[in-house]
Amino acid sequence: MPRRDDAPLVGRSAELALLSRTIEAAAKGGGRSIFIVGEGGIGKTRLATAAADRAARQGWTVALGRAYPVETGVPYALFSDALLPLLRKLDPSALSILTRGGGVQLAHLFPNLAPGTDERRPGEGDPSEIKARLLWNFTQFLGRLAAKQPLLILLENLQWADASSLELFHFVARQLESHRIVLIGTYNEAESELNAALRNTEQSLLRLGTLTVQRLAPLSLSETEDIIHQMFGVDRSATRHFSGLLYQSTRGNPFFIEETLKFLVESGALSERDGRWLGWEMETLHLPPTIRDVVKARISRLTSSARALADLAAVIGTRATYDTLARVSGLPPAELVAGLDELRTQRVFVETGDADSICYDFTHPLLQQVLYSDLGQARVRLLHATIAGALEDLYGPAAAGHADELALHFARARSPALARKAVTYLTAAGRTALEKYANREAANYLTAALEHLDNQGSGVSRREILTTLARARQRLGEYDIAMQLWSRARDDAIAAEDRGETAAIEHRMGLACYWSAKYAEALGHYQEGLALATAPRDAPLTVRLLLAKGICLQDLGRLGEAKAEVEAALAAAAASGVDNSALLARAHRALLLLYAWTGPLDLARNHGHQALAHARSARQFMLEWTAHWGLALLGGVAGNAPEVVEHLEECERLAEQMQSPLLPVWSGELRVQYDSGTGDWDRALETAERTIALARRLNQRTILPRLYVWSGLIHLWRGQKEKAKTYFDLAWTLSGGTGTVSAGDETDRALDVPSIVPAHLGMASYHLANGDPREAVRVAEAGLEIADRTGYVVWALQWLLPAVCEAAMEANLFELAAKHSARMRRDAVHANHRLGIACADGCDGLLAIYRDHDHARGIELLRSCAEQLEAIPFPPWAARIRHRIGRALLVTGEREEGMRELRKAHDVLARLGHTDALDLAREDMRGIGVRPPPRSVVTGAAGLTGRELEIARMVATRKSNKEIGGALRISARTVSTHLSNIFAKLSVGSRGELADFIRQNGLGEG
Ligand SMILES: Nc1ncnc2c1ncn2[C@@H]1O[C@H](COP(=O)(O)OP(=O)(O)OP(=O)(O)O)[C@@H](O)[C@H]1O
Ligand SMILES: [Mg+2]
Repeated sequence: MPRRDDAPLVGRSAELALLSRTIEAAAKGGGRSIFIVGEGGIGKTRLATAAADRAARQGWTVALGRAYPVETGVPYALFSDALLPLLRKLDPSALSILTRGGGVQLAHLFPNLAPGTDERRPGEGDPSEIKARLLWNFTQFLGRLAAKQPLLILLENLQWADASSLELFHFVARQLESHRIVLIGTYNEAESELNAALRNTEQSLLRLGTLTVQRLAPLSLSETEDIIHQMFGVDRSATRHFSGLLYQSTRGNPFFIEETLKFLVESGALSERDGRWLGWEMETLHLPPTIRDVVKARISRLTSSARALADLAAVIGTRATYDTLARVSGLPPAELVAGLDELRTQRVFVETGDADSICYDFTHPLLQQVLYSDLGQARVRLLHATIAGALEDLYGPAAAGHADELALHFARARSPALARKAVTYLTAAGRTALEKYANREAANYLTAALEHLDNQGSGVSRREILTTLARARQRLGEYDIAMQLWSRARDDAIAAEDRGETAAIEHRMGLACYWSAKYAEALGHYQEGLALATAPRDAPLTVRLLLAKGICLQDLGRLGEAKAEVEAALAAAAASGVDNSALLARAHRALLLLYAWTGPLDLARNHGHQALAHARSARQFMLEWTAHWGLALLGGVAGNAPEVVEHLEECERLAEQMQSPLLPVWSGELRVQYDSGTGDWDRALETAERTIALARRLNQRTILPRLYVWSGLIHLWRGQKEKAKTYFDLAWTLSGGTGTVSAGDETDRALDVPSIVPAHLGMASYHLANGDPREAVRVAEAGLEIADRTGYVVWALQWLLPAVCEAAMEANLFELAAKHSARMRRDAVHANHRLGIACADGCDGLLAIYRDHDHARGIELLRSCAEQLEAIPFPPWAARIRHRIGRALLVTGEREEGMRELRKAHDVLARLGHTDALDLAREDMRGIGVRPPPRSVVTGAAGLTGRELEIARMVATRKSNKEIGGALRISARTVSTHLSNIFAKLSVGSRGELADFIRQNGLGEG
């Protein structure tokens, strides 16, 4: 048989070019993922390997991982398969630099990859947060690895990939754009239908635009001829007829072509004489009917020990090491080596790995499948049992660390004598998977464990399997199944008269109901749990139950009742005695957040500080982070700028320490609000864009509406109405729109008030800016109604009441404005809300002027308002009030004083780029015959902010947005946002005009 292992690739030039382009682009830092897709044997592996070889020649690191048709269930198996050989070569110090303190997270996902890291767990907190942290740190690690040397990861046969690997693939693929990484996956289309996770991954990545799918077509007739020519070196003219036959019967599938040719050689139809191949003149091809039969015929010619090894390898199912094969086959070394040699020369096995660990893989997955299905059920079971026993022996005391592999073989042995071991290893594997947040795998293992147990009734605790499995289902969002499992576990606990355990299960059942939005039922379970829990033994559980109840009530908008529960939780935590600081921290934190929505704000702050102190003494970083976050939020609503900054910095420090990707999204949102209020609008927009992108990549939908509203408002104030409207619409849809609830269904429906209220604010502001103040009043009042109904007093004060008042004034609905203003003053004084008090003064001032024509009093109130706003500081609103003061003074004939106020307002508005308000101020100046100052000269350079001037100068030197973004380390999108602001501020319409402006005004040199 002629060898053709190193024969060049036939055809596929377009496909290879696409891969090369992708690799080149990635080398410059624009990574991407590609799926190579097609029927079995069409050449996916071959093409991907050719691309990988090319990359390797250009100095890339190549990592290859393979999934196997045997469902292994090992969490993240595909990635560890790919990266293990690579990481083994790194010494510990290099590894610790690459993980940058995230070694814990890495070790948690891949115990084999980063052994020897310290004992810290990934930390407490919400499972989805922890999971994101694990995946994020892995991605960061890959990024750093690739920064040294670009990295191509080839993951083969994704149709068999486990759910956790696909999830990781998806996560990594979304973060590739700034890394020198190419992620190639191959899968067999015919078998992919069964893998729903793969389908979802592909669809989602396609929607996100981060994936290219390359489908492979069969080879053409002339490419089929090329293969024959390469293999046999014969003249094309001599084989023309034969090529046609071969092409017809193989339909251009290269695997089929090769196997057929091998078959023809082995059956003697093609033969070599004096260095020449003969037999091409055949009229028809005498072939077995299917490719499986071709493969079977080849296998049937193996000697008996080679066949036995091949059978064992097929049952092992994944890559097999030499040691494993030696142990399970029990063959003496000489016979073993002879068998392996034969399998290699017959191209059934390929040898991989290095001298320390020699491994064997099938050359093609079809070989494994044919062998396995040929064995028959009984023999398969027997072999699994043999393998299970031999492996358990081989691993000895380390067997527990190989629970995945052992579970698979013990379970498939289906032998009553081995059931106990199957349950033990399945449960252990399930528990480890759950710890790694490989929830799907955990559920599969534990379900199997339960089945084996039910058939058997052995010593392992049924309740423990039930509850662990229920947790896995719950994490997967399969609440109905989880509830069934919980209720079975509860029956068990009741029968055992274990009250504490029963209460704990009621808590879990409550949570399952809560997460599936069945609030009334959730409350019922919490209540049951509370009735069962006995003090003082179950104090921690009691506190958790009370807090859970409080949160549920809060979501239902029953803030008053929620408060009572949380206060009770605090009392229970305090009574629970020593070592209760974590419990106290939880209770105080819940109260901080409750009072931050409802006031009084001082009380909220007090709880916040206590939460902080207790979280610190319990060394619970996540609790500490949330306490700081809550205090920063509180600082914002209380109009206390230093407080906001202090706690945000603490949040950022802790998030860094915990290496969390999600937490910065949440603190970022507060930064945007803060910068928007204090008038650093450029920075606010930059942060917003960055945070929105991150929130999207991490699927944090709940935070998006607010980010859209805060940045939409800035766009609106800067005169970009359409852009603002787009953002407000997004916020509206994401927050669940109107949030109207029909009477009667109120008890059981959660409202995302912290998103719905800002969404209303955005829409109302849009209508007001669009000249429809009555519609603005309507929308703002609708939002107000929701905030009031649910008890979110502070949200009403912070955002809706000022908006309602402003819109009502604009619509000349004086009585309505007066009513809301009075209420704003009352609530603000009660809650000690500075912004609310200032705004009430502002509204009353305007009422005095426009309704009562009492200018003196009006001006006095407006001054008070402006001074309070400036003290907070809240300059954008303060400037608009100064503008009104100026107007009023002009009316009363105090021209000089009026101009002074107008100029003050003008300066601030120009610096902010608050174009709509600025236009009005300038009109007023012109109205009294004063020429307004240049609309943009404020900071000496055309009123542009520092950042804007920098960008304008770069545009003048003909740099593209991408280049500018690169130089300033911001995204090209952010550059384009700045540019539209610059255009608006300078009233220029193109990059060319901007360049002229910069030159003509001598702004060119920095
Ligand atoms: N373009 C090509 N030129 C020459 N030989 C090829 C080409 N494509 C595939 N082959 C050969 O055909 C055989 C099958 O190809 P390959 O293993 O890449 O298929 P596959 O699509 O990965 O199949 P599977 O889905 O079963 O994994 C291999 O021996 C390979 O070398
Ligand atoms: Mg393949």
